[in-house]
Order: sequence, then structure tokens, then C-alpha cells
Amino acid sequence: MNPRLPDAVCRQHSAHFGRPPQCMAYAPGRVEILGNHTDYNGGLALAAAIDAGICAAVSRQPAPRANFLAMDLDETAELALPAAGPGQTDPAGNPLPHWARYIAGVAHGLPAGVGAQGGFDISFSGDIPRGAGLSSSAALAVASALALAALTDEKIPPLDLARLCQRAENEFAGARCGLLDQLSSLFGAVNALAAIDFQTLAARSIPLPGAVVCLIADTGVRHALAESAYNDRRHQCEAAARFCAGALGRPIKNLRDVTPAEFERLAPLMDAAAARRARHVFEENQRVQAAIAALERGALADFGQLMFASHQSSRDNFENSCPELDHLVEQARQLPEVIGARLSGGGFGGSVVVTAPPDAAPEITATLQNSFQNRFQRPCPVRAIKPSAGARLL
Ligand code: GLA
Repeated sequence: MNPRLPDAVCRQHSAHFGRPPQCMAYAPGRVEILGNHTDYNGGLALAAAIDAGICAAVSRQPAPRANFLAMDLDETAELALPAAGPGQTDPAGNPLPHWARYIAGVAHGLPAGVGAQGGFDISFSGDIPRGAGLSSSAALAVASALALAALTDEKIPPLDLARLCQRAENEFAGARCGLLDQLSSLFGAVNALAAIDFQTLAARSIPLPGAVVCLIADTGVRHALAESAYNDRRHQCEAAARFCAGALGRPIKNLRDVTPAEFERLAPLMDAAAARRARHVFEENQRVQAAIAALERGALADFGQLMFASHQSSRDNFENSCPELDHLVEQARQLPEVIGARLSGGGFGGSVVVTAPPDAAPEITATLQNSFQNRFQRPCPVRAIKPSAGARLL
């Protein structure tokens, strides 16, 4: 966490609302290392909380309403309490700005319902690049939920808090995301990856060898249709699961309830696109298992090959890549020092994650940036991230 962030948020909160914050919380963004679109399919993923995040500050105020301040955007919003549900407008009848819907969703989902004893003011600021696939929205929801729960003395177990934030995103912001972003933000650890099983929601830390640095190369592609394309992929995975349930004659909650052997038998009978989406998910689960084993025996080259294979499957089977992401991964593959590279997160734009030895990072960064500039005539920001501690009250 940037050590100056909490002070800056505290100062601006006091100046804007005329009261100092009573509770503050910090939640980091995340980078998905392996296991793409596996979360809502009950699968497996490896991710890290990053060293950039969002800090939220809250204080009570007497009227039954909530005032929101997005410091970095210099925007405000207002909500009558108790929060009514998705689609609630501000008191003047205007739709809430997109960022404010995450907080409205969190306020609505808190058990006692904030607003029962007056209202609250909330402000936030952070250093996660927006739209780069590093989950600034989940960090906003998690930081807001932690701070508001503390303000209302709610003890919310981490898994319930993650679900509450997911519901805020699903129902209030319209993205049918799984739990990857929220759980990685909550369960991140210094120099470690979180290995998450979305069937059981168990997470454990896998130490990342000191010989690995994670570079995030941002394509700058912010696909206007990314949200609907994401929801569409999810729909196809659910259709594949329904087909399997029908063919196998037993209840199937999600693709994880189908064995890889059953899938191979049924794939040729399924709609071809749904079968390709499901194949991506099955193989990603296998790659995550293999990657954990590779990291545990220190086989970094094997780990890297799994990242490249994951990208290829995104490109060909899940079709959630784009020319800019493909270009960066292809360039990275040609550099002997690179361990692995793949798209990270929902896809259709956003960032590539590259793993490499720390001393090779400057040269890899320069090569990727030059080649991206030559090919697409615009810069490609690359930043090194450090796997960091998870969300917390400050
Ligand atoms: C986005 C979603 C996550 C997950 C990833 C893809 O980040 O918010 O829930 O589905 O895409 O793995």
C-alpha cells in the first residue's frame, strides 16, 4: 500500500464532509495468474493481491442518506437510505454514476442495513489503474464493505463479505462476475499467490519464489462490449453445464461437477462454441493444479509453459483475447528470459501478465513497450507488481 494514501484520504474526507473519518479500510487490486473464467464454474485459480489498492473512509451523519466522494474523479453522489436496491436513483431522480453503484450495492447488502440509525459519508481514493484488468471495482466494494461494517459494528466473516461485494457487482453494476477478484483482494499475502478452489471457497497461500517478478502490460484496450461479452461467455458455460446435466441424468451445479472424462465423451454432442468454452475451463483447472505442483517443486519453466498454454486456450477456445493481448504474449514468448505470459482477468482487452526473473525485468519491459509502440502506434504502460497483503481495516 502506498503509505501516503490513508493520510490523504483522511485529510480530504475531513475537509469535504466537515467530520474526520471514524473507520478506514484498504483493499488491494488483484492480478489473475492462472485459471481464467474458472471462478463462476466452481473451478480453480491462482491470483495475487497487488501493491496498489483503494482506501475508503467513512463517518456517520445524522440524516438518513449517504454522501459519496470519489476523490480521484472529483465526483460526488448521493443516496437516500435505507438503500432500496438495484436501479435506485439519487434523490433528484438521476441514475447513480457507475462507481457509486458498487457502494450502493454494498450498503444495501450489509446485514443490519446501513441507514437504520442515520446515514453515512464515504470517500475513497486509490492507485489501481482503471480498466487495466486489475479489479479496481472489486477493491472499491471490498474497502467500502470493510469500512461500513466496522462503522455499524457488524462482524462479517470474509466469505460472506466477498459474496456481499459480488452481489453488489452482479446486481447493481450489471457484471455477472464470480468471486475471484473479491477473494484475491481479501486473501492476498506478501510474496505469495492465493490458490482458490471455488467449489469449496478454500484459499491457501503458495509462496512465489524470489526469482519471479510479475509485470503487467496494459494494452489500453477498454472494450465497450467487454461486460456483455463476459456475461455471454458465462451464459455459454452454464449452457454447457445444463447440457451435461441432461445427458448425465444427475444434478450439475456447474462445470466442476462434470469429470474431465465425462466432458470428453459429451463434447462432440454439444453446441460447438459451448464445448470450446467448457474445454477452456476444464483445461484451466488442470493447468492450475499442475502450476501449483510446479511452483512447489521450483519448476519455474513448467509453470511458465502453463501460462502460455492458458493464453492460447483463451485465444482459441474461449475467444476472449484481442490482437493487442496476442501481440504482447507472442513478443514475450520470444524473449528467452521470460518465464510465462498470458492475458489476465476477464479479457477482451485489459492487461497481459508476464512472469520473469527480476534482473531481466527492465529489458523485457523496454522490448515489449517498443514492439507495442511500433505495431499499434501508441504506448503500452508496463508496471512491476509485488504480491501483497490482503484487505484490512486501518
Ligand atoms: C473478471 C471477473 C472475475 C473472473 C475473471 C476471469 O475479473 O470479475 O470474476 O471471472 O474476470 O477469470
